[in-house]
Amino acid sequence: MEQDKFKRYTVTSALPYANGPLHIGHLAGAYLPADIFVRHLRLQRKDVVYVCGSDEHGAAITIKAKKENTTPQAIIDKYHHQIKDTFNNFGIAFDIYHRTSSAIHHTLSQEFFLNLYEKGEFIEKYSDQYFDEEFEQFLADRYIVGTCPNCANENAYGDQCEKCGSTLNATDLINPKSTLSGNKPILKQTKHWYLPLDKYQPWLEEWLLVGKKDVWKTNVYGQCSSWLKQGLQPRSMTRDLDWGIDVPLPEAAGKKLYVWLDAPIGYISATKQWALDNGKNWQLYWKKQANPTDDACLINFIGKDNIVFHCITFPSILNAHGDYILPYNVPANEFLNLEGDKLSTSRNHAVWLHEYLDEFAGKQDELRFVLTSIMPETSDSEFTWKDYQARVNNELVAILGNFVNRVMILMHKYFDGKVLDGKALKNKDINTQIANAYTLVDAHISTYKFRNALQSVMDIARLGNRYLTETEPWKTFKTEPEAAREVLQNCLHIIGHLSVLMQAFLPHSAKKIQQMLHLKGDVFYYDEELVFEDGHQLNPAQLLYEKVEDAAMDFQIAKLQDKKTEALQSQKVAQPAKPNITFEQFADLDIRTATILTAEKVAKTKKLLKLTVDTGIDTRTIVSGIAEYFEPENIVGKRVSVLINLAPREIKGILSQGMILMAENTDGKLSFVAPAGLVDNGSVIK
Ligand code: MF3
Ligand code: ZN
Repeated sequence: MEQDKFKRYTVTSALPYANGPLHIGHLAGAYLPADIFVRHLRLQRKDVVYVCGSDEHGAAITIKAKKENTTPQAIIDKYHHQIKDTFNNFGIAFDIYHRTSSAIHHTLSQEFFLNLYEKGEFIEKYSDQYFDEEFEQFLADRYIVGTCPNCANENAYGDQCEKCGSTLNATDLINPKSTLSGNKPILKQTKHWYLPLDKYQPWLEEWLLVGKKDVWKTNVYGQCSSWLKQGLQPRSMTRDLDWGIDVPLPEAAGKKLYVWLDAPIGYISATKQWALDNGKNWQLYWKKQANPTDDACLINFIGKDNIVFHCITFPSILNAHGDYILPYNVPANEFLNLEGDKLSTSRNHAVWLHEYLDEFAGKQDELRFVLTSIMPETSDSEFTWKDYQARVNNELVAILGNFVNRVMILMHKYFDGKVLDGKALKNKDINTQIANAYTLVDAHISTYKFRNALQSVMDIARLGNRYLTETEPWKTFKTEPEAAREVLQNCLHIIGHLSVLMQAFLPHSAKKIQQMLHLKGDVFYYDEELVFEDGHQLNPAQLLYEKVEDAAMDFQIAKLQDKKTEALQSQKVAQPAKPNITFEQFADLDIRTATILTAEKVAKTKKLLKLTVDTGIDTRTIVSGIAEYFEPENIVGKRVSVLINLAPREIKGILSQGMILMAENTDGKLSFVAPAGLVDNGSVIK
């Protein structure tokens, strides 16, 4: 392995915000690759700790709490456990899944802050920030909406416009509004502590641009070098918020640490907790002093939206502190798209992992397989259900599953599942190819090429399938049973190696195979005389994978479509404005207040009501398309506004004289437009 020079490995996956369930993008981005990497290290008997946990601070949490009308604490408690269970179900093999709301984490984060503070690292700066006078609090960027100066979207946030994608400062917004009170916020002076990234720039250029040039993935290195080229700015490490870790300074009462300061420290506090629970020394995995000869290797697995924090900010903090090792690598993945569109929580366009676990019970490895096969390693990639079906059916079922199943069945049928004189794999060519696969899988994993690594595993399954088909033991058995035995036992060796090779990728089915073979293969190495003692008894065959039927895929595709439509309807998007008209054109409209006198359904129609209204001038008949929203008996006596000089029209044989004005909500719901005060029928609306 490329990282073989290290004695110890500290592996992390980004701490997910505990503000919602996980989807396939999470898994493919930062958890599956790390899990494969760690499982591989463990199979090689390396000393490794793999930590993760919930990120429980920041506006992501408080906004969700507000949306659900509950407290931040209730939100993190709900999702922390759900997320933890989901990871567990998919076999993500953390040594600990911790949480940043824990006391040990609060303490460590404050220690970090004070360490930098006492060294005089921070720049203290006053600035004007938006403040909600009614709620008496400063507003995080996400609590301010206003019009985007670039694209005129009226719902842009204080940090970003989601319509045109531009990054904004809250003060850039036109007509800013607080999402707490709806009022216009005032600017108020506040003090914050800034990390002087500009001052660290020369160090970063040396450590990162020079030091990581041929080590980091090109997508990661490229992003970092373009930031450094633009020049770094100081970044505030504190916030005016009421949820998070207190800034440990008397003069900072009410202020919290910036979530991106405390979250990565969560990797360290999680390791501390794990060490406490397991009688280990956490410093071996984090401290320079405990690693005088660079013995520990820190690797942070993340998605691409986290690159700046892990490659620039966090290393700068660790370096400014001085006692800690720096990341050796940050193998970030790009994004996974879904059925031709970006994954989106707000539009509910996602495959949620907890739903997958319900709907595809016991099929974790199928999803692990597909997501690894399409992992967005160097550029964005796409998940579709048809592709999922094709990969499961054509590769897992037709190749891997089929090979294992045929061999097991034949061994039981011909030889009662007993291996005789089967210690070695008696085929030189196959031996060479298996040995080769071990080398390839190792080389690919150590360079974060998980797709290639998985293909090298599948090549062995393909090899086995081909070998079995070519040698046809079901034919030779009749005339030369010993030849058939040799072929099948060679196949058992191939399967044994497969179970080891695939273990990091498909741990659930690898285990099943090892149960069938009745062997333990938990070391990643190539040994020709792996396992089978003379007389070794196999266990009964179990089916590894099932064919995915069209109906299941159609159901999933329809479900995505439904969710999207639902989310779109519930999003309050006002219709765009119509072109201008002149005052004269407006003055031509004769709109009056009126009262509904009678209402009845128009026969044989769903939508129409026949109304008589008192317009103050006359009593007239109007046919109105509101029957789906109102019962006739409920609207008699309602005050309304009527366009009385609309040319009369015949509708379903009834002469309709005018139009009742209705307000149509974004979800299609209709309401009458009525005068707010007491006015006579026939009053002119102008
Ligand atoms: N919670 C962040 C996100 O989901 C990731 C935090 S990673 C850590 O984007 F380093 F800060 F832990
Ligand atoms: Zn915009």
